[in-house]
Amino acid sequence: MASFNLLLLPGDGIGPEVMTEVGRVLTWLDKNSGATFETETDLVGGSAYDAHGESISDDAMDKAQKADAVIFGAVGGPKWDSVPYEVRPEAGLLRLRKDLELFANLRPAICYPALADASSLKRDVIEGLDILILRELTGGVYFGEPKEIVTLENGEKRAVDTQLYTTHEIERIARVAFELARARNNKVTSMEKRNVMRSGVLWNQLVSAVHKAEYPDVELEHMLADAGGMQLVRWPKQFDVIVTDNLFGDMLSDVAAMLTGSLGMLPSASLGAPDPETGKRKALYEPVHGSAPDIAGKGIANPIAMIASLGMALRYSCDMGDAADLVDGAIADVLASGARTADLAAKGQNSVSTSDMGDAILAAMSKRAG
Ligand code: NAD
Ligand code: IPM
Ligand code: MN
Repeated sequence: MASFNLLLLPGDGIGPEVMTEVGRVLTWLDKNSGATFETETDLVGGSAYDAHGESISDDAMDKAQKADAVIFGAVGGPKWDSVPYEVRPEAGLLRLRKDLELFANLRPAICYPALADASSLKRDVIEGLDILILRELTGGVYFGEPKEIVTLENGEKRAVDTQLYTTHEIERIARVAFELARARNNKVTSMEKRNVMRSGVLWNQLVSAVHKAEYPDVELEHMLADAGGMQLVRWPKQFDVIVTDNLFGDMLSDVAAMLTGSLGMLPSASLGAPDPETGKRKALYEPVHGSAPDIAGKGIANPIAMIASLGMALRYSCDMGDAADLVDGAIADVLASGARTADLAAKGQNSVSTSDMGDAILAAMSKRAG
């Protein structure tokens, strides 16, 4: 029987609340899926800082390196606004991404039929939407050096972040984009700002070169990233796979989240390169949303992005496509039944709690599994 070892890092704010629902789904899968899941839980983010002065411990990093997959909640919050930059809650997440070399971040934005009226956009703009934002996750301005604040001789301060990409970083993310597109609707839109950024020029050239040499069967278009943001809200169904850098991908995926009705809906998978010997990839799965300090502790967070992230782990790290389909199908059933957490509920409509939503998804999974 297949057995998987998962590291759960709930984090801060609503992270632990939505991770509780993932724990319940894992218990269900343990009983009913034919696979077993061994889990370990550790601290990350502000909760790790409070416990030992850093946002992730070496011990937790070691567990992450060894796990079949890391399931990550969310980090951050106003409590840690003034802690030193290097140990901010977000630094724990960035270290995980960098040290595990999780360069490919898949952020699918799917509009469930039942939510076609939950978006702030008109129904016909988002009905049937199924796009994938592929964000480069270990390069660009997030990690380029120098990255510092220095005091100049005249007493002024100067802050520097460096947008930096090398050939292999661009080529490998381009290949992932074309591979993903081949399994979907065969179209890639690459977004950068080659009109003002050198890294945009190189990005554009290399994506075109990889396309010409290795994936001429896939449709490729280039778009300036600012125009891409506009097109995402004008007519998002024109896209299939969008490939873009670390910072543009961060911003464009929050925009895409709102096409689906709520930031509480968007899951993600962060994948490394396959090991040449075993073929296995390091992987981390997390919702796109953050720790939502404004609603933390109230038991009203939407757990769907977190549960759907576990679904992506089943698909990409456990080779359990059927179980992943079961999770996604159960989410669709529950939304079709009208259950809504507060972020999705229409004005005046009753909403359900985080654990009610978890209950409903588990019941729908049992029903589907017969
Ligand atoms: P956020 O995503 O936490 O919240 C933005 C808005 O969306 C809030 O109004 C929040 O209530 C709502 N929201 C988010 N997730 C929801 C859910 N599951 N259900 C219902 N409503 C939800 O973004 P923010 O407020 O800009 O950031 C808060 C903190 O989270 C910051 O410290 C930030 O750095 C951090 N953050 C962490 C991650 C992560 O851990 N991956 C991602 C984004 C932001
Ligand atoms: C995300 C978040 C992170 C990012 C933060 C918390 C470091 O916004 O995953 O989208 O900027 O990448
Ligand atoms: Mn973000």
